[in-house]
Amino acid sequence: MEKVKLGIIGLGRLGKNHAGNINYKITNADLTAVCSAVQGEVDDVMAEMHPKYGTTNYKELLNDKELDGIVIASNSAFHSQMVIDAAEAGVKNIYCEKPLGMTLEEIDLMKRAVESNHVNIFQTGYNRRFDKSLQTMKEKIDQGFIGKPILIKLASRDPSWVADHIVKFSPTSGGLVFDMLTHDYDCARWLIGSDAETVYGMGGVYVYEGLTAVDDLDNCTISLAFENGVMGFMETSRNCTYGYHVEVEVFGTEGSVRMGITPNKDRVVSMNKNGVNTECVSWFFEFWEPTFEAELQHFADCIQNNTKPIVNFMDGYKAVQWAFAAKEAVDKRKIVKV
Ligand code: NAI
Repeated sequence: MEKVKLGIIGLGRLGKNHAGNINYKITNADLTAVCSAVQGEVDDVMAEMHPKYGTTNYKELLNDKELDGIVIASNSAFHSQMVIDAAEAGVKNIYCEKPLGMTLEEIDLMKRAVESNHVNIFQTGYNRRFDKSLQTMKEKIDQGFIGKPILIKLASRDPSWVADHIVKFSPTSGGLVFDMLTHDYDCARWLIGSDAETVYGMGGVYVYEGLTAVDDLDNCTISLAFENGVMGFMETSRNCTYGYHVEVEVFGTEGSVRMGITPNKDRVVSMNKNGVNTECVSWFFEFWEPTFEAELQHFADCIQNNTKPIVNFMDGYKAVQWAFAAKEAVDKRKIVKV
């Protein structure tokens, strides 16, 4: 079978990793075209991975009929325009990083463009759905292992050593709720199989003063009521001193399933006169690495077999819709209907 020819827009922190996965690991895909607004990033990837061409003009990729699919890994603030341009240029298979957009207007415009131009495969980059442990949790929940789910609890803590980056990144990332918590929300609605009905939250700037000026937060908690009656609780932080920590638990009438209780880097336990020590995971790439390859493998497979992705446009749409309500809930400290 012929390889799926992919073009990628965005070669930054995540985009370069995606390009590497396509080039080195995904055997049924070919990294054909690469694009970044930064010429140096294009040059680096061209020199290392040798795609057919590289450009700083993303429209060149959208108009290239040789490409079977486009991967969008630009900053979140540019996703909506790029998806709309791609759909209008006739691109039929699109992968787009999360969050899809920053406002309700944006995601509505995207929805219209994707539907009216008959985009065939649209995958949103909620990579946690490709995590083996979370997939096992999902299977156990669906098999009734914990009985009827009562409560889902999620914690996401970014390491404090990325503080400078977070402050710089905040104006184009959408901030803590859009950038980080949409992962948790997508994970929660997938695990328990329901959308949220209402959301309440509180948060603030506890550590990084620079975030106040850009209307962002470094810590917050969210309470949710899901349509199927399940209760939800999320806590998130940008200043975790011991590393990167994600934890998920679903508690039900017959038991509990959980993952990530301690953020162990590996299975080594070292002991000396100061006590017992295990090292922590330091960053999200380390924790989620296999999911980034798996999600793009899935995109290539969906194109090759003409099947629908397990995380689609409406999943991305609903996450943004929820984030909008969650941000209002946190800002105004009130219960908001989603
Ligand atoms: P970054 O700032 O490191 O890179 C952004 C890239 O987009 C750069 O290569 C930049 O040149 C390119 N870009 C921006 N405007 C462009 C334009 N008009 N034309 C061509 N290229 C353009 O950002 P990062 O951290 O790589 O994030 C990218 C996206 O990936 C964001 O939406 C972010 O939310 C998402 N992300 C998702 C993660 C996950 O766990 N699923 C983890 C990290 C990022």
